Amino acid sequence: MRIIHVTSGIRVSMTHVLETGFEILDADNPNGNPRVRGYNIVNGELRLASDGSTFESRNPAWINDCLGEFPQSTKQDVHEALGAARAAFSGWSTTPAPTRGQIIGNMGRLLMEHKDDIVRVETREIGKTLKESAGSVQEAIDTCLFFQSEGRRLYGQTVNSELPDKELFTYRRPLGVCGIINACNFPAAVPFWKMIPAIMCGNTCVWKSPQDAPLLSFMLTRIMHEAGLPNGVINLVHGRGSGAGQFLVDAVDDGLINKISFTGSTRVGKMIGEICGRNLVSCSLELGGKNPLVVMPTASIDNAVEGAYWAAFGTAGQRCTSLGNLIIHKDVYDDFMAKFMSKVEDTRIGDSLRHENVLYGPMLSERYAKDFLNDLGMCESDGATKLWGEGIITNDNKPANFLGDATDGVYMWPHVYAGVTEDMECFHEELFGPAVTVVKADDFDHALHLANASPYGLSSACYTNDRLEAYRFKTGIKAGMTGINNSTTGAEAHLPFGGVKGSGNGTRESGIWVIEAYSYWHAVNDELSGKLQLAQMDVDEVHIEEAEADYAALA
Ligand code: UN1
Repeated sequence: MRIIHVTSGIRVSMTHVLETGFEILDADNPNGNPRVRGYNIVNGELRLASDGSTFESRNPAWINDCLGEFPQSTKQDVHEALGAARAAFSGWSTTPAPTRGQIIGNMGRLLMEHKDDIVRVETREIGKTLKESAGSVQEAIDTCLFFQSEGRRLYGQTVNSELPDKELFTYRRPLGVCGIINACNFPAAVPFWKMIPAIMCGNTCVWKSPQDAPLLSFMLTRIMHEAGLPNGVINLVHGRGSGAGQFLVDAVDDGLINKISFTGSTRVGKMIGEICGRNLVSCSLELGGKNPLVVMPTASIDNAVEGAYWAAFGTAGQRCTSLGNLIIHKDVYDDFMAKFMSKVEDTRIGDSLRHENVLYGPMLSERYAKDFLNDLGMCESDGATKLWGEGIITNDNKPANFLGDATDGVYMWPHVYAGVTEDMECFHEELFGPAVTVVKADDFDHALHLANASPYGLSSACYTNDRLEAYRFKTGIKAGMTGINNSTTGAEAHLPFGGVKGSGNGTRESGIWVIEAYSYWHAVNDELSGKLQLAQMDVDEVHIEEAEADYAALA
């Protein structure tokens, strides 16, 4: 990759993304990594914000490590990106779907080629462990490989007509311009979940990158262009949710967008749903979760402890599928909790770029840390019993297995709140960070009731070796996803991902199901008879005949 060291005065703002490498501003970071200038990518060109404003991306594990400066996009920038997506639509939607699939396959192969570097940047930018970043990038690769061949299918149907000499067909058609907004916690997997099926169906996109992962988004958009993506099919704009994100959503009211796909909070999702609803524009909403995990007496307790511990504290609890309410049958409560707490107390926390075998790293950014501390305040004011956790980790107040210097980044203790009941706010609200609320259940029906009692319905899990209980959990839980003897996480790229109730509007990501979200069905009839034949009215009517037969007499 060619690298340009920019000296003042070099004009690069209209350069095509493939004509230049990364612009290094300096390499003064404490880890020796460079600080770069990031750009929007509109119509394949590198663009700065129209008013020149920028924001920084910082490594949450090492706040003094600044990854780069990125455009704080204005309304004009977002509208230019929408214009580019609109202009590219006709050429892209008429490109044969197998060719679109081939470009998507190239993206998957390029991601594989650069996987190690992408993984390290993901960890540097949002603090996830290397192992988990590799999982997120792999999910993006899996998505590309899955949809590469879908370009050769994208099936419609032939349907028989009720009239002679007439043929019926169904076709999948693209929706148009899609606005894509995702959170930063799965900054490779989730935007690919959205944009790959979107472009496979022939749509074009404007992607508002997550405010806390602009460098990774910039890299991924470059890679998409290297794969052969024509200019304007995917346009990247950086900025705040309340800035560029809001401008994108507001453009629905201006008739400039045909689809919004959003992953983030339920509050913002409802606002987007209202705007799309009043304009009859399709939206996919993947929102919050308070995912329950039930432990029943027949379960393997060690296995359940392992699953609950991972679901609660992996990713520092910052997955939408992270464990919310840990619901334990009273007969195994003490045994389970003793084993669970000993793991919690031993948790290895630190920067996985500098320390081996950590379970989790810092919060995704300082903003997430601040919000999480507010969430903890809710548990405290609810009167839940704190078994473990002291908020933010400092050098004077840190768990035994915290590795490194706590002042480098924004690290949190793991938190466990017990004695939680249905009347507490913390039973119902998502705690986005390393915290779990523990609820005791009297029996299976009570456990199932508790599992269904939060306003969300994303993921869920039940540990039991009683097959009837497993069946009743599977059929009785109101959730988009369920693990039996497994944790609440673990979606795969070819299974439908999404929730019910407060967790979304029923749309799904991933697998063949997501195609519904990015295409509409077009029914076509081809009248070959050369005359007007009216359905329902000119159809041959076949009458039931009278017959002399006493069927009853035969047996
Ligand atoms: C998310 O948290 O937005 O199942 C996505 C999982 C991951 C995806 C999570 N494969 O937890």
